[in-house]
Amino acid sequence: MQNILMVCLGNICRSPLAEGILREKAKQIDLEITIDSAGTSNYHISQHPDSRTVENAKRHNIDISKLKARQFVVSDYDKFDSIFVMDSSNYADVISLARNEDDKQKVELILNRVYPNSNMSVPDPYYGGEQGFENVFILLDNACSIIANSIQKN
Ligand code: 4NP
Repeated sequence: MQNILMVCLGNICRSPLAEGILREKAKQIDLEITIDSAGTSNYHISQHPDSRTVENAKRHNIDISKLKARQFVVSDYDKFDSIFVMDSSNYADVISLARNEDDKQKVELILNRVYPNSNMSVPDPYYGGEQGFENVFILLDNACSIIANSIQKN
């Protein structure tokens, strides 16, 4: 069974949404995987996702209201097979905690699954408006479809 971790800065906008979307995709195709999310910062530990993200997810029939933010820890490298980060800053922060090459190999910018080798970031919607949240949803929905299908094939 694959264990997948989604990572952003606060663990209240992008990564909990990615967690919820991938869980839904896995359910739809009967895929048994475990999915979690974490933030590189300690800003929002134990908080539920941002209400704007919760509302956006709800509009797409995904309930992420009960998730709680936590911070990425080095032992996540032991627990997870794949660690998807949202932007280049998350990438640098997570890689800085890697203990060896095996750890580093697990970390991937999530949009590289949609646009290979582009190193594009999922934009941080925190300081923006509603459209930013929908834009994040569309990007993550695409990426999670590809991730779910790639696991199914293995
Ligand atoms: P996230 O968004 O990394 O997608 O959860 C953010 C949430 C909070 C902050 C920044 C980004 N913040 O600076 O508090």
